[in-house]
Amino acid sequence: MQKTIGVLTSGGDAPGMNAAVRAVTRAAIKKGFRVVGIRRGYNGLLNNDMVELTTRDVADIIQRGGTEIFTARCKEFREWEYVLKAKDICVRDNFAGIVVIGGDGSFRGAADLSKAGIPCVGLPGTIDNDIQCSEYTIGYDTAMNTVMELVDKLRDTSHSHERCAVVEVMGRNAGHIALNTGVACGATAILVPEIEFDIEDVIQKIKNARANGKEQFIVIVAEGVENYSEKLAKTIQEKTGVETKFARLAHIVRGGSPSLADRLLAARMGVAAVDMLMEGMENVFVCERDGKMVPADIQEAIVMDRMYKSTFTPSVKYPEEALKTYSPEKIEYMMNFCVMREKEIKELITTAEDISNYSV
Ligand code: F6P
Repeated sequence: MQKTIGVLTSGGDAPGMNAAVRAVTRAAIKKGFRVVGIRRGYNGLLNNDMVELTTRDVADIIQRGGTEIFTARCKEFREWEYVLKAKDICVRDNFAGIVVIGGDGSFRGAADLSKAGIPCVGLPGTIDNDIQCSEYTIGYDTAMNTVMELVDKLRDTSHSHERCAVVEVMGRNAGHIALNTGVACGATAILVPEIEFDIEDVIQKIKNARANGKEQFIVIVAEGVENYSEKLAKTIQEKTGVETKFARLAHIVRGGSPSLADRLLAARMGVAAVDMLMEGMENVFVCERDGKMVPADIQEAIVMDRMYKSTFTPSVKYPEEALKTYSPEKIEYMMNFCVMREKEIKELITTAEDISNYSV
């Protein structure tokens, strides 16, 4: 009986997910597998909501945003009983493995399913770029380009009315989208959860810039700086006298046709995922390092993620218990990786500061 590879998209959608489904489907068919699209994330496995995908079925989707096989978060999948139920369905349908396209929550499910005996390979598909092991995630580039386009439009109207625009962008706990688009859009200030800030500095910057003749201001705030951006807009208006508008870009940033970079990443990662399954790998996800597609252990990536986030998000606990299973060398390697990512963020903030300084 012909072996099957399942493919699913899970968690928040991201531009390029369709391109990834297409790549997985075509690469797997070429290598002799039957391919099944599991609809609505892990729910499709539990509810038997699956469709066979042929080469033809994935035609004309490379350019489409969203995901044609739908996505969802699946609470039941956190319970072992449901993971085992999914495993039985995979065995029944002769699955050789599953490619899971999604963010960190989706990878937890993939790790559990691998533990239950069904090989899973993850593809990082999230606009947040918050999978520390991979330099890029599918959807991130498109989301940033969308933010840039929208902020450029806000800038036109802010310029005409000599106003300030406070723009909140998605990214969950991570400030990558805010930081990069802030630099690219020439923001006067950028606030991200990874770096402490003083609101008085932001106010002073706007006042100085105003005194130096600047007539419009863009302040970009990552949603991870919780419940703050709307309040910040009011504070800026009160303290600087500059009329300030607030815009939350929210889900609009998740839509749209994927950029060239995201289509390319999806294609390369999709093909690599099928190769990894064929090589007998499981419980790994494909990540980009130094431009190459390499496997990374899912569990390790989850631990590394918690390690990184716990340094700036009070609600995320340092993964002390989980670290006990790793050697001192491995822990040092993980720590160095987190330090490197933090350094990248700090460097970019410095760049932003250097080129938005109106006080001199
Ligand atoms: O993880 C992607 C993301 O878009 C985050 O940036 C955001 O915090 C979250 O998903 C929103 O989720 P939902 O679509 O469930 O509102």
